[in-house]
Amino acid sequence: MSDLQTPATRPANPRFSSGPCAKIPAYSLDMLADAPLGRSHRAAVGKAKLKRAIDQTREILGVPADYRIGIVPGSDTGAVEMAMWSLLGARPVEMLAWESFGEGWVTDVVKQLKLDAKVTKAPYGEVVDFATVDFDKDVVFTWNGTTSGVRVPNGDAIPADRAGLTICDATSAAFAMELPWDKLDVVTFSWQKVLGGEGAHGMLILSPRAVERLESYVPAWPLPKIFRLTAKGKLIEGIFQGETINTPSMLAVEDYLVALDWAQSIGGLKGLVARAEANARVVAEFVAQNDWIANLAVRPEIASTTSVCLKFTDPRITDGAAFAKGVAKRLESQGVALDVGAYRDAPPGLRIWCGSTVETADVAALMPWIDWAFRAEIAALQAA
Ligand SMILES: Cc1ncc(COP(=O)(O)O)c(C=O)c1O
Repeated sequence: MSDLQTPATRPANPRFSSGPCAKIPAYSLDMLADAPLGRSHRAAVGKAKLKRAIDQTREILGVPADYRIGIVPGSDTGAVEMAMWSLLGARPVEMLAWESFGEGWVTDVVKQLKLDAKVTKAPYGEVVDFATVDFDKDVVFTWNGTTSGVRVPNGDAIPADRAGLTICDATSAAFAMELPWDKLDVVTFSWQKVLGGEGAHGMLILSPRAVERLESYVPAWPLPKIFRLTAKGKLIEGIFQGETINTPSMLAVEDYLVALDWAQSIGGLKGLVARAEANARVVAEFVAQNDWIANLAVRPEIASTTSVCLKFTDPRITDGAAFAKGVAKRLESQGVALDVGAYRDAPPGLRIWCGSTVETADVAALMPWIDWAFRAEIAALQAA
């Protein structure tokens, strides 16, 4: 049993949850001291903070100057729903899904909006082949499938001269992966993912073509105030300058600003992408060295660099779900990895968040613990 000794080193931060994700390194609540609490978000100080959040987002992500960026209610879900409810129905729709969140958007479009959409799915571990997609339709998809650890490799298959709009849920991709802005008409994300911000608010980014649709098309269904982006047939420009539809949390805004400053301090998008890639590489190397564990993504070019999903492949395992749960529980009870069980709808396994706020040394320190927990679980299985 000597090989079941626990590893000598522990991750300094055991937070590998895929959302809300680890806060920025050296985070402290003191960093939020400048939040204008108890003040109106429409006072100059509040508006300036909201505007800065938009401007810094644009700068770091390289969002084109003619794209609008708005802060909206309801986190990423709110942003995606606003986009779908406001834009869809004008032309045929194709929905792409390869994991749980993409499937959620399919449900909303088919069952709630009752649109006769084409639905194209790929199983967990795979991605839809974009070469087969008709981009003259409006196409809705998730850039990084957080629950399968599978991402779109690039936007090359999306035609520049498409007639439809591309609506992309990029919540677990934005800030950690390059996004081809010219191929994307709507991009959404939430603060609680790659920058380790807070839930509650979503970011809605619109191309000029998406704005054109908003100003020329009125959906057949009613839109609640919380979803409305136009008034009298015109875009409400204020939303994209920090005049939010309703009251935002200025504490969450301050927290996002702190994260944006940190992002800039480490080299902006380049630095953020490099950190996530370095983290995912540590996991990939560990997986390559061990024949009892594999990446859920079937090919490296579609493997996520943020929500890295792993499955156990040891033939001695009879109940995959129970085994994976056992491993995650051991890691949690040792305090070395919190919230790393696979998502409830995904195949059993582990999901290790490798986004930019996670330190590579912590990912490296976690790997021997996964080895330890696997062996301990196998030993328990054999003793039973
Ligand atoms: C791909 C994807 N879409 C949507 C969501 C929902 O995000 P939120 O809870 O911020 O609305 C998540 C959250 O994990 C996600 O990973």
